[in-house]
Amino acid sequence: MTTGSDDRQFWDAAAARFDDEPDHGLRDPRVRAAWAGRLRSWLPDPPSDVLDVGCGTGSLALLAAEQGHRVTAVDRSEPMVALAREKLAGTTARVLVGEATALPVEAGFDVVLVRHLLWALPDPAAVLRYWAGLLRPGGRLVLIEGRWGAVTPVGLTAGTLGELAAPLGGTFGIEQLGHDPALWGRPVDDERYAAVVRPAGPAPRRHREIVDVHLVLRRGDRVLLARRANTGYADGLLHVPSGHVEDGEDVRSGMIREAREEIGVELTPEDLTAAVVMQHRAPDGGARIGWFFVASYGIGGEPVNREPDKCSELVWHPLDALPDDMVAYCRAGLDAYRAGLPFLLHLHEKGDVIAYDPAGPRRAVPLAPPAVPGSRP
Ligand SMILES: C[S@@+](CC[C@H](N)C(=O)[O-])C[C@H]1O[C@@H](n2cnc3c(N)ncnc32)[C@H](O)[C@@H]1O
Repeated sequence: MTTGSDDRQFWDAAAARFDDEPDHGLRDPRVRAAWAGRLRSWLPDPPSDVLDVGCGTGSLALLAAEQGHRVTAVDRSEPMVALAREKLAGTTARVLVGEATALPVEAGFDVVLVRHLLWALPDPAAVLRYWAGLLRPGGRLVLIEGRWGAVTPVGLTAGTLGELAAPLGGTFGIEQLGHDPALWGRPVDDERYAAVVRPAGPAPRRHREIVDVHLVLRRGDRVLLARRANTGYADGLLHVPSGHVEDGEDVRSGMIREAREEIGVELTPEDLTAAVVMQHRAPDGGARIGWFFVASYGIGGEPVNREPDKCSELVWHPLDALPDDMVAYCRAGLDAYRAGLPFLLHLHEKGDVIAYDPAGPRRAVPLAPPAVPGSRP
């Protein structure tokens, strides 16, 4: 280990004889077995996605592929890549020409594996950040490094590497390798080690979701439903008049506005009673909190279809005999209202449909017992 990575020609020229070193070529079965055992302990259970950066002739990449991992190996030197491709032929590994600091890959690896390269790169702290950014959450960097030579040593001590990796957070473990001659094919007396760095993931994002409001407009035992049209969401299905709460609006003001905009009914805060609050997740994963407010027919005027471009009809339906062609979560909200259940989860699974399906899975989970009989509006 006597050259910096800026010496491109050095590695091109070194490629043909590179595997002559026992720890490079792994030709001796004992050396090969020693590296295979260590590598197995540093990698997650196979199969995982492993990126070998500065792969050289691909000896470690081959071990990882033989252990059942999906390997991508990259090196800047074309002669090295040619040898690695030969070595990895017959495996599923891909070998690419590329620069360690601007790799020709997308993020999404479980492991970035790098042996004997980091020390030679001009800005190791920056490159560690870059490699960490190629990992999936929970991924790790496996860095095999050392400080070689007695008179004018080159390389990184484990302590220095620890300082460089500290800004990544997470965990940092060092395994000293200098005392194990099986790895090197001979005894060595300089510092050699492997570091496994599991960077802290990004801080969890705050959960955010849309808030929407739904009007349960009651006319005796019937409720007003609107058939959606041309909106791109649940068209053709019945739903109660509803909409999203706008920025800065409270849920009751949002309900008053939506009632005016959609059905021309002028309500006041006193006309509305909150009946159900539901957290809903759509089949595509989008989440929302839906508030269902009850109001009585007659207050605020006759409902009319004020948005004929989005609604094809308004119809009154008995609450205890609701139609099937409804949006499933609206139906769940009305069922909860009838049952006196004030709080509900209604979380679709992938593959569910938006439409209510009388034979489909029930996704409503009450979060509180029914309200005291007679206390409902
Ligand atoms: C000491 S060899 C290590 C090879 C391999 N990791 C191994 O341990 O067997 C260093 C390798 O890194 C490659 N290399 C050096 N600088 C590089 C860079 N900036 N980007 C990509 N590869 C680089 C060289 O071509 C060479 O193959």
